[in-house]
Amino acid sequence: MKNVANTSVLKWGGKLLCLWEGGDPYEIDIENGHLDTVGIFDLINRHHLQPEDIASGGVNQISEDAKEVSGDGGGGFWDFAASVVKPILHGIFKMPPKRLLSHYKIDPTLDRLLTVSCNAEDMLIPRSSFTFYEFDSNFKLLQKQEFDIPEHMMIHDWAFTETHYVLFGNRIKLDVPGSMLALSGLSPMITALSVNPNKPTSPIYVLPRFLDKVKSNRDWTIPVEAPSQMWVLHAGNAFELTDQRGNLEIQIHAAICSYKWFNFHKMFGYDWKTGKLDPSFMNARDGDENDLPHLVKVSIKLQSDGNFEECSVEALNNWTKPTDFPAINPAFYGSNNTCIYAATSYNTRQSLPHFPFDTVVKLNLVDMSVSTWSVGSRRFIGEPVFVPKGTDEEDGYLVVIEYAVSVQKCYMLILNPKMIGRSEDALVAKLEVPKHLNFPLGFHGFWAAAD
Ligand SMILES: [Fe+2]
Repeated sequence: MKNVANTSVLKWGGKLLCLWEGGDPYEIDIENGHLDTVGIFDLINRHHLQPEDIASGGVNQISEDAKEVSGDGGGGFWDFAASVVKPILHGIFKMPPKRLLSHYKIDPTLDRLLTVSCNAEDMLIPRSSFTFYEFDSNFKLLQKQEFDIPEHMMIHDWAFTETHYVLFGNRIKLDVPGSMLALSGLSPMITALSVNPNKPTSPIYVLPRFLDKVKSNRDWTIPVEAPSQMWVLHAGNAFELTDQRGNLEIQIHAAICSYKWFNFHKMFGYDWKTGKLDPSFMNARDGDENDLPHLVKVSIKLQSDGNFEECSVEALNNWTKPTDFPAINPAFYGSNNTCIYAATSYNTRQSLPHFPFDTVVKLNLVDMSVSTWSVGSRRFIGEPVFVPKGTDEEDGYLVVIEYAVSVQKCYMLILNPKMIGRSEDALVAKLEVPKHLNFPLGFHGFWAAAD
């Protein structure tokens, strides 16, 4: 399987990494300014290598706090199935035993990089093994925990709080004809899967981040069931609120869509059979607008003894327009933030009314206001990235990539978040991207200050 490393980027520990969903990241050289490819960066296995096997950075030891935690993984038949599938995935498709998810988190309070991997065979058998890693600013592995969950699910993004990891269990099942084609190399591996809408609720796994801080005996392998069916695309932020009696509320802000809308065969409108990108697939027919991605607030309440009390899901600030790529000031990850930004469709286009996105929306979660900035006709935007400057949460810039269809050019837009929705234009600067670096649609970005 080709490592396309095209989903997200990260600068950490002096290295620039490009991540994807199928395996190890690629390291990009940032020393000479050419962005040359260095090669595979074995983030999660490098701790088992000998010093001479590692070009730079040194060997890090797993701390004594490293733990592995197991639920009931199913055993028996599925152990056998895994033993059959693993050699195929590793030997023929060159998939590493553990595939790193493209979405990572940075905990600004502890100055840690948090990543998650799952076992390669989890894609094909109805159980999941997630391993969470926490690294210091030099890639030293500080903590590692493995959680076995007896459910077939697909995780693209996830969340963390001060004391928990949160996994949204998007339910999947094996597509038998698709899996045969995939294993024979005739179709992409993703076509082995389909969504599994067999239950009207959605499982959310609330996992202990630090075992020595967990007071309760709650069985974490039993998920919190959110009251509605939702496919979680991206988590903007999550944090904890504790009341005087010790009851805990975990609040997550996320972009979700319906199981009806999400389709493994045409993600982002790309049809692998024809090799064409058709954004109309990402739009909804009249009456189906509620199926599209939108932002929600998920609130999970746990009693002081850790037992589950209730879970609710509601539209964030009553904003129901198609929206994805939630972003916040990264200094506030894991904290009770005030503002969340995202890409949305606000203009009333005759064709393609919902996607691609053309507007940045800013939701103030305290005064419940909603304000927008639109890029203009026949222009589209991708994910907003917040660049902090100063100590106030709104101090900084939003960096957004614009694609102008009429001239087939990309621009980097720099917005003042405080001016979004005001009479003065929020646009601070607009830079043209060199023609050879143009791209019509992108996934995730990252901002890193110069060292
Ligand atoms: Fe993503």
